[in-house]
Amino acid sequence: MFMDDGKRFYITTPIYYVNDIPHIGHAYTTTACDVISRYKRMKGCDVFFLTGTDEHGQKIQTAAEAKGETPQELVDRVHVAFRKLCTALGASNDDFIRTTEDRHIRTVQAVFSKLIEQGDIYKGTYSGYYCVPDETYVPENAMGPNHTCPDCGRPLIIMEEESYFFRASKYVSQLIEYYEKHARAVMPKIRYNEIMSFLKGGVRDQSVSRTTLKWGIPVPGDEKHVIYVWFDALVNYITAAGYLDDPEKFARYWPHVRHMVGKDIIRFHCVTWPLLLLALGVNLPAEIFAHGWWTVDGEKMSKTRGNVVDPFKMVEEYGADPFRYFMMREVPFGNDGDFSELALVGRINSDLANDLGNLLNRTHRMIQSYRGGVVPASDEPCDLSEMSADVMRRVDAAMNDYAFDDALKAIWEFIGRSNKFIDETMPWKLAKDDTQSAKLDYVLLNLYEALRLSAMLIAPVMPDTAKRIWTQLGIHDDPVKSQYDSFTWGNGAGNKLGESEVLFPRIDIKEWQKHKEEQKLQEESAKNAEAAANADTQSAKTETPETEHEPEIGIESFKAVEMRVAQITKCEEIPRSKKLYRLELDLGYESRVVCSGIKAFFTPEELTGKRVILVTNLKPAKLCGIESNGMILCASVKKDGVSEQLTLITPESDIPLGSRVS
Ligand code: MSP
Repeated sequence: MFMDDGKRFYITTPIYYVNDIPHIGHAYTTTACDVISRYKRMKGCDVFFLTGTDEHGQKIQTAAEAKGETPQELVDRVHVAFRKLCTALGASNDDFIRTTEDRHIRTVQAVFSKLIEQGDIYKGTYSGYYCVPDETYVPENAMGPNHTCPDCGRPLIIMEEESYFFRASKYVSQLIEYYEKHARAVMPKIRYNEIMSFLKGGVRDQSVSRTTLKWGIPVPGDEKHVIYVWFDALVNYITAAGYLDDPEKFARYWPHVRHMVGKDIIRFHCVTWPLLLLALGVNLPAEIFAHGWWTVDGEKMSKTRGNVVDPFKMVEEYGADPFRYFMMREVPFGNDGDFSELALVGRINSDLANDLGNLLNRTHRMIQSYRGGVVPASDEPCDLSEMSADVMRRVDAAMNDYAFDDALKAIWEFIGRSNKFIDETMPWKLAKDDTQSAKLDYVLLNLYEALRLSAMLIAPVMPDTAKRIWTQLGIHDDPVKSQYDSFTWGNGAGNKLGESEVLFPRIDIKEWQKHKEEQKLQEESAKNAEAAANADTQSAKTETPETEHEPEIGIESFKAVEMRVAQITKCEEIPRSKKLYRLELDLGYESRVVCSGIKAFFTPEELTGKRVILVTNLKPAKLCGIESNGMILCASVKKDGVSEQLTLITPESDIPLGSRVS
């Protein structure tokens, strides 16, 4: 039986789908893996940190079709965003795997062939409910009412196709036995229990190929089939470890592998994957940790809600370190949590600017003014030094359990205690009394050491901040490259301070709120402009051909549309819009502002003074940040859905403004 010596550590994020751009969920796992990697390196471990992108399968094929690209073009374009995310977050990954790479395709095919040869993959018939337009099977427990597709609502058909199956059932009892002996194999406990009860309920052989889709790795020797995307994706973890190409590397890292995943994908990782590994005769993962999900301001994060947290924006606005700190500190890893920018700002102000920033500023200032910037020596025992040993133990224990928030809590208690130490010892008073010089040395040295240690302890989470602190403390090494266990309290004596710098400027909440309001308005109007532009092209695209007609309506429906004669009094360009003009119209009894998509057909001069027909009871809409109150009537000729000619509908005589059209 393999024994982990604790000296090697192979950690993986899930590989991210490239059908969409990165969000906070991706940033979260990558950050957590980076934190643990940096921590383990500082503990002297030989670390291999892998992340990457999942680039095959239906989702990708569909996304590519929607964008009018080939899947290869899409994955080549979008995977870059995930690489950039690593850079933006300051991730220290040792490798970035793409499932479209040759090394991976060869590994997947080799694994597939091996399992066929040993009889663990066999050909059979797959039958299930299938959505033809979406080209996807829908599990029975996910179907909509009356056997409909949960995504598009259309009726499902029963489909049968030839498929390769993995003999998962053969290895289930072996896996249960393994988990019974390895309580840390699936963490946290709640997920362990979930997986155990799932396994004990029995596992059926699993379909591992598709004939309904092209974008995947072909089954070796039977190219009508592509390998199921999850089979392909999971294998990435052994591809990158050198399963096929580098047996030495594989022996070095694979037995020490830890997978970090979101709670939604644990069955694939804690059931399918280990069963495959058992069939391959390869060690099972030492640990699989499932983290929780973020909601945003209390709501589920989704594109339709428009509340998807963009990690690039967070990094740009607040910096990578504060964002990383927030994610690791705010929610116990494993639990669900809520993301709010206000809470992030709160933590920057209280934990970072106030607690940590002040400790650094005060200490730096005092050593500068009382000791000319040189750290004094002192042998007198100090409770900060005693507490430091305890903090290090707590950080160790917490990190081993992936309890990042607990590790940070322990460090911040220490920072808090150090700030209190200043208040209690009142160095400014000691400085005025020559007989207290040794006491002042003792206070200053111990504060300096507390900071030197705190910077080292926060380095896995905030590598850049840790370095900035050490630079101010006059230490030219990089804390992330230092070793936890070589820290010796007191060794900082004699160091000469570097330049002082404010670590985290306080964010003025009122100003911030104002800025956020403005930002929101800008985003909304940009979104509306986009929607208007899309609506224009959409309506153009789906325009009813002239030979087709709208369904019949009653006179009441027609009467419900209030139309009146109005005169355009002003026409202005809208800077961000290619299609819209901002029009001011006089109705006789009131004036109106309307945004109209007729820019391509008229100059402002041609429109000003024109009398038109205005729909006056249309619900107001915001377009490019401008509230539009009505719609002017036009007639147009369209070709392929695009207006080629357009004319205003104008009253034939000088009838008074405001006259009703019926
Ligand atoms: N491609 C698969 C993984 C294959 S691993 C062999 C996949 N990709 S994903 O891009 O959809 O999801 C990646 C990770 O993001 C998952 O671990 C998922 O849990 C996580 N998250 C997605 N939304 C999330 C939140 N709202 N909050 C936290 N993590 C979330 O699944």
